[in-house]
Amino acid sequence: MKVTIDNITIEVEPGTTIMQAARQIGAHVAPPAMCYYEPLKGSGGKCRACLVKVTAGSEKDPRPMPKLVPSCITQVQDGMIVENTTSPQVLEARKGVVEFLLLNHPLDCPVCDQAGECHLQDFTFEHGVSKTRTIEERNTFEPQDLGPYIQLNMNRCVLCYRCVYTADQVTEGRVHGVMHRGDHAEISTYIEKAIDNDFSGNVIDVCPVGALTDKTYRFKNRVWFTKPVDAHCDCGKCSGKVTLWYRGDEVIRVTARKNEWGEVQDFICNTCRFERKKTSDWTIEGPMKVARHSVISANKYGASSIKPAFPLKQAAEQYKQIDDNRDRSFLEPQKQLK
Ligand code: SF4
Ligand code: FES
Repeated sequence: MKVTIDNITIEVEPGTTIMQAARQIGAHVAPPAMCYYEPLKGSGGKCRACLVKVTAGSEKDPRPMPKLVPSCITQVQDGMIVENTTSPQVLEARKGVVEFLLLNHPLDCPVCDQAGECHLQDFTFEHGVSKTRTIEERNTFEPQDLGPYIQLNMNRCVLCYRCVYTADQVTEGRVHGVMHRGDHAEISTYIEKAIDNDFSGNVIDVCPVGALTDKTYRFKNRVWFTKPVDAHCDCGKCSGKVTLWYRGDEVIRVTARKNEWGEVQDFICNTCRFERKKTSDWTIEGPMKVARHSVISANKYGASSIKPAFPLKQAAEQYKQIDDNRDRSFLEPQKQLK
């Protein structure tokens, strides 16, 4: 089937979604994704980060689709024409999606372990606005321990369901899920039951934000100060292919390897993740290739500082003229002292 995305035409197999077709073209055309995760069956359709405009449904029926559609669950038709970054309507809608995702978010990136590899941070940087329009109190939750290795900070969760699908599809029994509905919805375990399973640590890797973090790594370092190295071991439970994150000579974190979309290549077991933290446990392959455009790796903070218009505009908006006609009589006593 032929599909055109942002003026680039590609041929794909029937059943391909717009997101998959866009990813085949390349990162510059691929819509952002907060809930879709290719290795997890059934993921997508929750967050609306990937909305695109279909200006022609197919060659047979070239009418445009009346509303923006989620590209991760919409299959392409032959002759379909899609606009992603070329549509001002899509870009405007994404600003709204970011605003909704941040509505209850604590904006605690400076103390969040996920900062630097957080999809919400990237999404906000690329598509959000720099101001908040809300003054209402945010939903807050106490941090929860989910067993010995995983910490849940529900304040940061965007309810993407990735961790729920991971527990369903990768572990032997899911003991957590989304409780309640609407703005009461939250990820939780019944009666704070520990997530205790050989593959449970993978929920940390799939979480796009800092809601599920590794307790053995929390607050040890900022990710951009660490050195990631690909390594493998002979593991009986998983593929044993991991990334080791070094601080000096010390392995401070072990994660699964990720592809250019930030998705896990091989889910790894808890023994590799939490218990093999010595270099001697591993055969080192070499430095990890940083493929994803994270806020830090893409040097986006640098990008904003070399664009003087951005901070100047911010400063100009908050600048108050100094009133030189103020009453100066309060200076008089000092004059008298002299
Ligand atoms: S905890 Fe993370 S992975 Fe699970 S639903 Fe929330 S944001 Fe998604
Ligand atoms: S990535 Fe498509 S709806 Fe979330």
